[in-house]
Amino acid sequence: MRGGLRFLVPLLCALAALSASFAFYQVSTERTSLRTEFERRVSTLAEGLVETAQPLLARGAVGELRRVVQRNSNQERILGMAIYDDEGRRIAATELEKLTQPFDAFALVRQHPQGIGEIVRAGDKALYWFAMPVYQEERLIGVVAVVCDASEIEAQSARILRDTVLHTTAQTLVLILAVLLVRSNLAGQVQHTAAWIRSVRTGMRTLPPQLHHKVFRPLTREVTDLARSLDAARAQAEQEARLRVASESRWTPERLRVSVQAKLQGNPLFVVANREPYMHVLGESGVSVLVPASGLVTAMEPVLLACEGTWIAHGSGNADKTVTDEHDRVRVPPEQPRYTLRRVWLTNEEEKGYYQGLANEGLWPLCHIAHTRPTFRPEDWRQYQVVNRKFADAVVEEMETAEQPVVLVQDYHFALLPRLLKEKRPDARVAIFWHIPWPNPEAFGICPWQVELLDGLLGADLIGFHTQFHCNNFLETVERCLEARVEWERFAVSRNGHTTTVLPFPISVAGTESAPQEDVDDDELEEASAANPLVARTALRRKLGLDRLVLGVGVDRVDYTKGLIERFRGIERFLERFDAFLEQFTFVQIAAPSRTDIDRYSEFLRSVEAEADRINRRFQRHEWKPIVLQVRHHSHEEISRYYRASDFCLITSLHDGMNLVAKEFVASRSDEDGVLILSTFAGASRELPDAIIVNPYDIDALADSIHLAIDMGRRERSARMRRMRQVVGEHNVYRWAGNLIAELCRIRVEKTGKAVVR
Ligand code: F6P
Repeated sequence: MRGGLRFLVPLLCALAALSASFAFYQVSTERTSLRTEFERRVSTLAEGLVETAQPLLARGAVGELRRVVQRNSNQERILGMAIYDDEGRRIAATELEKLTQPFDAFALVRQHPQGIGEIVRAGDKALYWFAMPVYQEERLIGVVAVVCDASEIEAQSARILRDTVLHTTAQTLVLILAVLLVRSNLAGQVQHTAAWIRSVRTGMRTLPPQLHHKVFRPLTREVTDLARSLDAARAQAEQEARLRVASESRWTPERLRVSVQAKLQGNPLFVVANREPYMHVLGESGVSVLVPASGLVTAMEPVLLACEGTWIAHGSGNADKTVTDEHDRVRVPPEQPRYTLRRVWLTNEEEKGYYQGLANEGLWPLCHIAHTRPTFRPEDWRQYQVVNRKFADAVVEEMETAEQPVVLVQDYHFALLPRLLKEKRPDARVAIFWHIPWPNPEAFGICPWQVELLDGLLGADLIGFHTQFHCNNFLETVERCLEARVEWERFAVSRNGHTTTVLPFPISVAGTESAPQEDVDDDELEEASAANPLVARTALRRKLGLDRLVLGVGVDRVDYTKGLIERFRGIERFLERFDAFLEQFTFVQIAAPSRTDIDRYSEFLRSVEAEADRINRRFQRHEWKPIVLQVRHHSHEEISRYYRASDFCLITSLHDGMNLVAKEFVASRSDEDGVLILSTFAGASRELPDAIIVNPYDIDALADSIHLAIDMGRRERSARMRRMRQVVGEHNVYRWAGNLIAELCRIRVEKTGKAVVR
């Protein structure tokens, strides 16, 4: 028997048997109740007759009894009637009663003093014969028997039987139909899924199955993840094989893992950063996980995923404590844990002084030449020291069992940490990477705690910046500010017997995404948009109602260093000069609110909104407006859809260490299309000369660059994008981390904590 029939035949038999038993039960119950009712009615009738006959029987008035019989046998429902005397003789009777009387009425009623009845047949008719005793002072003096038409019971029973059979047959058919439908639906979906898994297993790329029913959702999710991992592993293996054949040296997660394992000799990696990669946030629908808008997170997460280890960060989500263990640790990423996140808790006072105050109102504007004056408050400085010590304690605790641990400290929040760590663990190899620019010595010189900050930093064995220019600024600052020997020939600082190497490591993203799929049909737009830029573009534009000819995108934290006001003015100027683009051009600005507890940031957010409003009011026509400002957090997937859908990406930082948005945009353009307009003041402009490089302070130049991007031919766009993708693909974050860790491990650290470069 085939698989389908093996399932169906027993099911159908069971359903049929169930329906038949149900019909039988229902008919017999109905029949019993009909008969009981009928008998009750006949018995009531007979009682009346007994009352009439009783005095006549007592008197032996046979003639009157016969008249009673004649009179009553014409009554409705009574077909025949008889009266018996005390010896069982029929003294008065109709013909029908004689015919149907099948029993010895007298003997029967003796045994049934309440009366007795039977259904009997006369030809094709059903009759009901009923006999009832007549007593006088407890002595049986006679019997009254009546015959009634019982065909109404038969007819009703037949009707009920017919209705029940029809009803249960219909129900059974509907049930069978439903079972068949569900089964064919399930079978279809299961077969579709199986075919898809097979296609993934055999290396064909097809779209994941669409399983509509809720019940399948967990399965779909798991199967899709599984297939994606398989796909990613295969793509990686293929890429590695390709690279081996071509003897290229592209860095992959696997290569980084192997390289770091060899360097660390089994020791885990420790990363310290203020910002955590996952925040647990309590909202209306419970605790959710949020990936913060942060270039640092974008860059460091792939490294931790490849190398595992521990990320030590400020636990800043309002539900962070609910998911950590007794050591303040939680494994992440939440859906597929690969490394440990150790959370450090800060008081409001600490956060205010260290993060909002010294880091973001002091050091941030000090290092970014964006014309916002730094604020240096002694209380902020005090909290900065307290928090750096708190982190030092947490890191020391985490690396308690590690020998010669390797620690990568991130950013300007932790300038004091390298020295504090070295004091407690001289055997540790410590690097700090400064993600923001380092200004010239004059600019840095206004900081009241410049000596302490430099001293803290020089506790590290290695200091990394994005560009050589920032390294040079740092070395010049050290030369001016401290008693130290700067060795320009090998970019190192020697002080108190310890050497710190200062080198550029341009940070990057995980790498370029692979080539688009082909032959995607319109119904599968949503899923396909993740992979096919052309489809993504149509889908996104349709969703936003942006059916304009040109779409530009900007993605930034709302920060005054990002040049958002200048960007909008550039767009305004562009529309003034090239009015043919009115109603033909839309610029979507994705703006992640950032550091909003700081006045300068909340003010800046208001001015960005006001500027977008002003320009929109100026040019607005009907439904159309030139700038769509979306102030909210966006996931990586959402942002990636915008990158893929846009004609150009506009980055206008007034000063930026690197700017990973530029690299993310390039990485996402697997269609080798799209134009990058990039500020000359972003570190990324050094690596991506194929972008249109622009001075964001020059509004006319900005307008020109937008026009140039729109006007550029497909061939040139592709050539530029291909070259940029080559750079981003080769200089990815795995290479960044590999080089940084390799450089750090080249340094031999003596037990005393003195570093010697080998
Ligand atoms: O650019 C410096 C930096 O610390 C980045 O590393 C990070 O992307 C960004 O600032 C985020 O800032 P915050 O963590 O304060 O939101």
